[in-house]
Order: sequence, then structure tokens, then C-alpha cells
Amino acid sequence: MTVAPPSLHAPKVNVFPDKAALVTAATEQVIELIRAAIAARGRCSIALSGGSTPKPLYQALAQTELPWQQLYIYWGDERYVPITHSDSNAKMTQEAWLSQVPIPAENIFIVPTDTDSPQTSAERYQQALMASFDVPSSQLPQFDIILLGMGDDGHTASLFPHTAALKETERWVTVGQKDDQPRITFTAPLINQARHIIFLVAGANKQSALSQVFAPVADSATYPARLIAPVGTLQWMLDADASQGLPQTIERTVH
Ligand code: 6PG
Repeated sequence: MTVAPPSLHAPKVNVFPDKAALVTAATEQVIELIRAAIAARGRCSIALSGGSTPKPLYQALAQTELPWQQLYIYWGDERYVPITHSDSNAKMTQEAWLSQVPIPAENIFIVPTDTDSPQTSAERYQQALMASFDVPSSQLPQFDIILLGMGDDGHTASLFPHTAALKETERWVTVGQKDDQPRITFTAPLINQARHIIFLVAGANKQSALSQVFAPVADSATYPARLIAPVGTLQWMLDADASQGLPQTIERTVH
């Protein structure tokens, strides 16, 4: 059993009446963080989550004017499928957002899945990140924003329960495994280097996993979202249904 490692910043928990309100607030928050990063450092690096929850957020961002030249897009995980496949996170994001805005193609870092193996894809993506961030390979790059979801089993990105990816402490990108489906995923150490992490979690089916992720003591290998304890800020944006899983002791702002 492991006690949740204390984040340098206590997680902020915001609860919204429904998914639509959560998405509206998350859109505002992401826009604010993008603009603040560009104002402070001349660029913003954001790693996107896959799954269904963030899609309306991406659709809302498609209606937003942003400094596209200074915005750099990555994915925190990807399924090992062609970009034309309906399961591709990049396909979903391109259709919902990126194909509709004038962001330079060179600012979009798609996980290469047209390779001979998931391992090759993970290695190539790590090389692409190394080239994109001006840090020595001995250091971890710091993303300005990482968006995460959480599965009903407590996974996040493609860090699934009791898989080898959870134990990876050196690599930036590794191979995740969802049952028999290989994934490419950021590692927990890379995610935890972020300036700002936002979890977007909606639905009653997430209650049980949330109760364990926020429990004082639980097993991070069973509930990998517990591994997320960033050097920067950690925010959970929940809808009311999902928030029913929070232990009573967890402070939250109800909107
Ligand atoms: C993916 C995601 C994954 C997702 C969760 C929650 O590639 O599927 O990165 O970690 O965030 O499974 O998915 P939903 O938002 O669809 O519930």
C-alpha cells in the first residue's frame, strides 16, 4: 500500500453541476494558462488527453482566437493505431480542433504510430520531444499544461493498473498496455514535471476510482492516477456525478 505522495501543491478540486459546465470552465482555464505561458515565456507547450471527455473542450477551443504561432501541441498518450483509425486520439483532436484553426503544422507533434512496433513509436516520440524541448536528455522537459482524464479503473494517460509502464522512471515516453492493446504514453515522471496539470473527470462510473485515488492510503499500482503529483499545480475538474466518489474530507469548490 502506498500513501499518496504529497504534491508540492495541494490538488485543487473544482466540482461543476454537469459535464457541460465542467467543459466550459476547463476551456476558460486552458485559454488562461495558454495565454499566461506565452506572455511569460513566448511559447506554450500543451499535452492533450484522449478519450471522450475532452472532445467538447477541443471543439470549444476551435472557436477561440489564440496565438497559434506560439502554441505547441503534443499528446500525453496515443493508441498504437494509424492516425486514420477511429481510436486515434490525434484523429479526434484534429477533427474537433486543430484542422479548424491556423496553427502551423510544425507546431503539432503527433505520435508516430506508423512504425514496426509500439517500442519504436515510443522511442521516436521521445526523440521528437528531445528535439522540441531545449533540455539535455538527463533532464525532463517541463510542459506548460498537461490535460489528463481518468478511466473507471483509475488509469490516466495510458498508465494502466499493474503494467510495466508504471515502473518506468528514466524514460520520457514508454509503451502502455490496455489489455491486449499497446499504447504510447508519457511516463509518470514526465507528467509530474508539468507546470499545470488538469484532470477532467465526468460521470458516475468514475466515483469508485476517484474514492481510491483520493483515499489517504491506497495502491498506486492499482490506481495509477495516484502517481500524479506534479512539481506544478494540480487541478481536478469534476462533474457532480463523479464528485460523489470523493472522500468527505477532500476540500472542493462547488460551482
Ligand atoms: C485515452 C486517454 C485516457 C482517457 C481515460 C478517460 O487515450 O483514452 O488518454 O487516459 O483520458 O480513459 O477517458 P474518457 O474521458 O473517455 O472517460
